[in-house]
Amino acid sequence: MRTLALIAQKGGTGKTTLALALSVAATTAKLKALVIDLDPQGTACNWSDRRKTDSPIVIDAQPSRLSAALQKAEQNGIDLVIIDTPARSEQSALAAAGVADLIIIPCRPQAYDLETVPNTSKLLALADNRPALVILNAVPAQGNRQEQARQALDQMGMHVCPHTIGARASFGDAGALGQTPEEYDPAGKAAEEIRKVYKYIYRVLAKEETRNERQETQSGYAVGR
Ligand SMILES: Nc1ncnc2c1ncn2[C@@H]1O[C@H](COP(=O)(O)OP(=O)(O)OP(=O)(O)O)[C@@H](O)[C@H]1O
Ligand SMILES: [Mg+2]
Repeated sequence: MRTLALIAQKGGTGKTTLALALSVAATTAKLKALVIDLDPQGTACNWSDRRKTDSPIVIDAQPSRLSAALQKAEQNGIDLVIIDTPARSEQSALAAAGVADLIIIPCRPQAYDLETVPNTSKLLALADNRPALVILNAVPAQGNRQEQARQALDQMGMHVCPHTIGARASFGDAGALGQTPEEYDPAGKAAEEIRKVYKYIYRVLAKEETRNERQETQSGYAVGR
């Protein structure tokens, strides 16, 4: 089982939108996906209530119940857990970061979002500096905001996904129906972008796993010596 946590201290960056889109991408790839909604607003749960299918599974939880929820998920054969967190909640962000194999930080390419990334990053340092990936979201079709944001994030030492998500109305339209763009408009640009981001995330997860295995083997040798 692998676990992703969507975290950003700023509100409205696209945490829930990406959590749901990634969970449907996982389901399409025949994985058993679970979304854990830590946000008291319950946006992910409300989305699930509007759906006509039971997958992906969406449950709400409190940060203190996260470990128990993950244990149950593992016992129930879940392949991918995606934790959606509320903005401005250190408790939720830390709880989710602490159990994540990879932290996803959605960020709009605008100063208001970018200036909050160091805060998110400092918070993540408290969670053992787990691997984190920034995804530029709602990128406008015109202008060079993406390049400027990429430069700023590079300077902060952040790992930025090479694939971005454009500002596309289909996210809101699909969400209103309890869908994601992949279901609402499978041939559209938003669906294509999500598929690319999903694949990239899986590659990063696989690399992290290999690195962890190598480290475990090395420390095993050290203990054995
Ligand atoms: N790529 C996108 N293109 C167009 N609209 C988007 C995109 N991503 C998100 N949105 C819209 O922006 C709004 C905020 O997105 P979302 O709820 O996912 O953010 P959030 O980070 O979860 O917010 P909160 O911090 O309040 O939980 C929603 O109306 C959503 O439909
Ligand atoms: Mg949200």
